[in-house]
Amino acid sequence: MSASSHEARPDRYAVAGNPVEHSQSPFIHAEFARQTGQPLEYGRLLCPLDGFEATLRAFVADRSAGVVRGCNVTVPFKLEAFALAARRTSRAERAQAANTLRFDEAEQGGWLADNTDGVGLVRDIERHAGVALAGRRVLLIGAGGAAAGALGPLLEARPAGVVVANRTLSKARELVVRHADLAGAATLEARAPHDAGEGFDVVINATASSLQGAQVPVDASVLAPGALALDMMYGPAAQGFIAWAEAHGARGRDGLGMLVEQAAEAFFVWRGVRPETAPVLAALRERLTAKAR
Ligand code: ATR
Repeated sequence: MSASSHEARPDRYAVAGNPVEHSQSPFIHAEFARQTGQPLEYGRLLCPLDGFEATLRAFVADRSAGVVRGCNVTVPFKLEAFALAARRTSRAERAQAANTLRFDEAEQGGWLADNTDGVGLVRDIERHAGVALAGRRVLLIGAGGAAAGALGPLLEARPAGVVVANRTLSKARELVVRHADLAGAATLEARAPHDAGEGFDVVINATASSLQGAQVPVDASVLAPGALALDMMYGPAAQGFIAWAEAHGARGRDGLGMLVEQAAEAFFVWRGVRPETAPVLAALRERLTAKAR
C-alpha cells in the first residue's frame, strides 16, 4: 500500500472498558465527526478484566485499518489508564484517574492521560442546566473515582463552598486534602452523609447508590428550594435520585449532558476542534427515549 493511501484512512478511536456494549460514546463521537468534518472512526474495545493494558497495546499496534490516535476509558479501568500513561494532565493528576488517552508517539512524549469528566460535569451544569456555579453552595455525594474527577473542576468554577459527603468519611477527607489548594475563597469540607448540612443550591450524586437501587444517602433537607440535583448516571439508574429530588421541590437531572460534554472535551484533546454539544445531547436523548419505548 502506498503511503498516501495509508494516510487517507480515518484516524481510529474507541471506548475501552468492560462492559462497553451499551456505551453511547460511539454515537456521540460519530455525531461530532460528522458535524466538524473530522475524518475519524470510533468503536468499542471490550477488555478482559485482567487484560486492559495488553488489549490496549494490541489495539494501538494494529495499524492495518488506520492509525489509532486515542481512546476513552470507562469502568473499571480509569485508574489503570492513569497509571500506564507516560504523561498526565494536571486534572488527571488531581483525579488520580483518566477517562481519555491520547496515543502520542514516543518522540512527542508518549501516551497522554487526561480526565475530562469534571469539566464535562461543570459545563453541563452551567450551559445546559443553566446554573452558574460561582457563589453557589454545592454538595458532592460520594468520594470514589467519579467524585474525584469532579471536585477539581467544581472548585475552579468558584462556588461559595463545597461539601463532600461520603459513607466512608476518611475517603471524603482524603479528597478534600488533595484539593485544598484549589479551594481559594471557597469553603471545602468533608462530612458524613447524615450530617451533610442543609439548603444546597446544587447537589450532585457521584455514588453508586442509584445503581444498586439503594436509598439516597442524604436527607432531603440538603436541597434548597428549586435546587439542581444531578445524578451522574443516566437511564433507569438515575431515576430513583431524580424522583427523590423532584418529590422535594428540586430540579432533577441525569448525567447525559455530562456524558456529552466530557466527550466533547476529549474530542478537543484529540482533534483540537470543539464540537457543538447541544444538538448532540438532544439527539442522544431522543435516541434513548425511542429505545425505551
Ligand atoms: P466510582 O468510580 O463510580 O466513583 P467507586 O470508586 O467504587 O466508584 O466509588 C463508589 C462511591 O459510591 C463511593 O463514594 C461509595 O461510598 P464508600 O466510599 O463509602 O464505599 C459510594 N457508595 C456506593 N454504594 C453506596 C450506597 N449504597 N450508599 C452510599 N454510598 C454508596
